[in-house]
Amino acid sequence: MELLFEKTVSGRQTSYIPELEVPFYQYEDKYLNEQSLDFPELSELDVSRHYSELERRTFGINQGFYPLGSCTMKYNPRFHEQVASLPGFCDIHPLQSLESVPGAKFIYEKSEELLCKITGMDYMSFQPAAGAQGEFLGILLIKKFHEKNGEGGTRSKILIPDSAHGTNPATAALCGLNVVTVRSTNEGYMDLNHLRELANTEIAGLMLTNPNTLGVFDPNICEITKIVHEAGGLCYYDGANLNPIMNIARPGDMGFDCIHLNLHKTFSTPHGGGGPGAGAVGMKELLKECYDEVWKVKAFHGHFLVVVRALCYLLTLGEKGIRDSAVQSVLSANYMKKQLEDTFTIKQKGFCMHEFVITLEEESKNYGFRALDVAKAFIDYQMYPPTMYFPQIIPEALMVEPTETESKETLDYAVEIYKKVYQDLKRDPDSAKDYPKTTPIHRPDEVSAARNPKLRWRKET
Ligand SMILES: Cc1ncc(COP(=O)(O)O)c(C=O)c1O
Repeated sequence: MELLFEKTVSGRQTSYIPELEVPFYQYEDKYLNEQSLDFPELSELDVSRHYSELERRTFGINQGFYPLGSCTMKYNPRFHEQVASLPGFCDIHPLQSLESVPGAKFIYEKSEELLCKITGMDYMSFQPAAGAQGEFLGILLIKKFHEKNGEGGTRSKILIPDSAHGTNPATAALCGLNVVTVRSTNEGYMDLNHLRELANTEIAGLMLTNPNTLGVFDPNICEITKIVHEAGGLCYYDGANLNPIMNIARPGDMGFDCIHLNLHKTFSTPHGGGGPGAGAVGMKELLKECYDEVWKVKAFHGHFLVVVRALCYLLTLGEKGIRDSAVQSVLSANYMKKQLEDTFTIKQKGFCMHEFVITLEEESKNYGFRALDVAKAFIDYQMYPPTMYFPQIIPEALMVEPTETESKETLDYAVEIYKKVYQDLKRDPDSAKDYPKTTPIHRPDEVSAARNPKLRWRKET
């Protein structure tokens, strides 16, 4: 598809600048740009069609089922968008005095109160712009805590399970900590014996998400946090997976000292395409002083409008509604898992939480088709592929998170197509690389795209 810059037609215009209503000001020549800016020249219709075409080529939750595991791509009510676009919220400036924005102050205070209640934390910071930045702030707080206790130099390690999301070890490394991996058991729980072996006076703490990325809730969670605390470490909860336990179980009660929440996943902000997000960080009283010392990780007050949406969500659903959403997300995942179990291999037996992980290890060996091929085939049936090749401890993984916002009919359709694609590929494995067949671009060279990204278009001269 051509870019607007390539569609340009010299002299074609979209807008006509009205006559000047204020005194004309002539800048000195030295401030004037002498080169053409090379902006595209197009009519309004050209531009409108261009963006409509781009939208048609993009897959979002409005197009169909979007079960991207570990990402909670749920539907976000349009009403929250309307509220977040009210001029009273959009037009305030971050440098305005606190007295001039009592409404914004209320939004932050009320959100802090409600989210602390849901998580079992004492304070909440809304600065971080994403989950990963929330982790960064949280781990800085834990490091500060040890420094203040005179153990900054010795507590240089952080325990992270092998099922963790990649941002956890990346965050720890960015904060200057050495990552020590804790093994998982076959059921997907943390291996307690391994944890006991590793928990010593050199650890700053543990980073963990529960339910974890295998979609299982670790029944030993209180024992896990106890072992870490007894070794003098602190416990960090990656709240990207809070969706299935909202208003049911609280990380604070499980023994966690600090958490981040992905408001852009769990609390109603669309987040496909990279943002803006809000990785709100909750902390227990013992970290408050540390926060007062290291708190600045983002300009001003973070992404305020994401917090507005989150508060809308919390207030419109209410305590019971939030709990019901959590329950429904678990029900949806189990409904799909149960029906897919006779076709696909899912190593974690029994009930899952909000997501489950399929492995195509055997199929890739026996038939030659891979998780990537199955995922690509789903696109032809107007479904977004599930998360692939993650968590890394499951070979040929497909991670499915249907969320609470999908209807039974959609889940039934997804199950039918998942089975159909599987059978089609088993019957004709040679066709695996043909999918997707209906998209404008067939299979992009993902390695080249990642290694040699073209981030800028240059005009051919
Ligand atoms: C388990 C988990 N932790 C952390 C993150 C990081 O969140 P963000 O993408 O907002 O930085 C994600 C994102 O997908 C995640 O799934």
